[in-house]
Amino acid sequence: MSMDKGVIYRIAGPVVVAKGIRPRMYDVVRVGNEKLMGEVIQLEGDKVIIQVYEDTSGIKPGEPVVNTHEPLKAELGPGMLGSIYDGIQRPLPVLIRQMGEFIKRGVDAPGLDQTKKWDFKAAAKKGDSVIGGSIIGEVEENPGIPHRILVPPSQKGKIANISSGKFTVNDVIGKLDNGYELKLKHHWPVKIARPVKQKLNPEMPLITGQRIFDALFPLAKGGVAAIPGPFGAGKTVSQQQLAKWSDADIVVYVGCGERGNEMTEVLTEFPKLADPKSGKPLMNRTVLIANTSNMPVAAREASIYTGVTIAEYYRDMGYSVALMADSTSRWAEAMREISSRLEEMPGEEGYPAYLSTRLAQFYERSGRVMPFGTDKEGSVSIIGAVSPPGGDFSEPVTQNTLRVTKCFWALDAKLAQRRHFPSINWLTSYSLYLNTLKQYYSENVAPDWHELVGRIMGILQEEERLMEIVQLVGSDALPERQQLTLQVARLIREVLLQQNAYHDIDTYCSLRKTYDMMKAIMQFSTLANSSLDRGTRVQEILATKAKDRLGEVKFVKDYEKLLNELAKQMERELK
Ligand SMILES: Nc1ncnc2c1ncn2[C@@H]1O[C@H](COP(=O)(O)OP(=O)(O)O)[C@@H](O)[C@H]1O
Ligand SMILES: [Mg+2]
Repeated sequence: MSMDKGVIYRIAGPVVVAKGIRPRMYDVVRVGNEKLMGEVIQLEGDKVIIQVYEDTSGIKPGEPVVNTHEPLKAELGPGMLGSIYDGIQRPLPVLIRQMGEFIKRGVDAPGLDQTKKWDFKAAAKKGDSVIGGSIIGEVEENPGIPHRILVPPSQKGKIANISSGKFTVNDVIGKLDNGYELKLKHHWPVKIARPVKQKLNPEMPLITGQRIFDALFPLAKGGVAAIPGPFGAGKTVSQQQLAKWSDADIVVYVGCGERGNEMTEVLTEFPKLADPKSGKPLMNRTVLIANTSNMPVAAREASIYTGVTIAEYYRDMGYSVALMADSTSRWAEAMREISSRLEEMPGEEGYPAYLSTRLAQFYERSGRVMPFGTDKEGSVSIIGAVSPPGGDFSEPVTQNTLRVTKCFWALDAKLAQRRHFPSINWLTSYSLYLNTLKQYYSENVAPDWHELVGRIMGILQEEERLMEIVQLVGSDALPERQQLTLQVARLIREVLLQQNAYHDIDTYCSLRKTYDMMKAIMQFSTLANSSLDRGTRVQEILATKAKDRLGEVKFVKDYEKLLNELAKQMERELK
């Protein structure tokens, strides 16, 4: 690696201007005596503008700046699952060990364990033609999770030699005929999307175990969702629920610019959790990236790109990956701060004009794909939290996110105040995947899934209209039929939509159970409406007991027996 050396000319927070080096855009440079990591973000005559990923306080003009001639890259290989990284993929436990009590800067800590030996089983053999993405073998990264070793996307050729055995990520496991040395790891520039053979349409749901998402606003594997909401509305809890319970093979969780204690919660809680399906620790399939509010702002952007690059890498092995970013607003604020330091022309609300492009480019790295090296499709689903100040969704970050996401899970402070959790507003939220996923649900859960969902949405919308009237004239003035509708809507809200993240059983709800609950509520609706047709007074119907116990079903593991009893009791009461 050739190097050249310049000096610091000026420092403005995370932005440093250097002179005397001739880097390319996005080259990584080492800044100051402490060799802080930075990235070239602008070239202006002889001035080189650098954003620095570490705290710049105390560094001075005249200190050296060294060009590495390399863009910011992720180190990709076995050992990432279960790791906790900072924004530039340094393992936090290693950093803490090296830094001790002090926050040292310029610490180099590679993303992968350099000494651990992995048991590599070669699948390719001498003479095989390979291209970027081809699978040449695998190691078992965690129990039940094979880590497929890929030819780096930029390489191709014939295998000159390759051997199975115990290797570290730095050992040479084989060679291509062009001399390229194959290893268990390779590097990839984080700002560039990894190439794929083919993009496919998302048609499978990402099953979340959260009733309101799975039933009313489903997300497809390879799709994109936004969770906007004001402070305290439940963004973080929702993201964590998705990280814990969604049926992705691999989860990448990026804590971006949020308070440290929220991340601590994740860090202490996740290692204790078990996967509902395999019973194995959830951390086995999870990569955590923590760039909290007390860490340097420029590294927020790096944390997002590092996260999505790791997600794409596992996708290329044929895995479904879910990436959560909490919160993309903090990343946007970092962009705004850097932009104002650069004295760029501000756009809307001070955000740079390229805000929308950056957000779009990030979300576009999602997708369901056919990777180059395997017939197993892979996917990256992205779920971004957005924290609009004051919960005002008309602000630029929410609006620009809305343009590129197909699932909008709008959190509502009023619902949170009423302790209705998850506080997803069922009237303003939407999913553009509803129709695409119809077939999956009808084939895999029940043929009438979609129809039930339609009826439930219809009742919730009617409730909204009726509540306007109730506010004017009171509910007694409503016709009996409509009073009944309000009762059904209430059951939908309280039984189906409310879900307690902190309850052992309610925290995760299978599609079957969600369906059975929808069915029971609509059964009450049907029975109650025909009872009304036969002349029963609405007061009598509203006084029936079984419907009041439907909510208990949520908290029972083997709920079928209870639900059957309640269904029978409903029939007795209403016939
Ligand atoms: N699904 C849920 N079940 C139970 N409580 C919830 C749920 N979602 C949010 N809460 C409550 O709301 C609080 C704030 O949620 P949080 O996700 O931290 O908000 P935000 O990240 O939007 O600021 C949580 O500490 C919790 O008490
Ligand atoms: Mg939060």
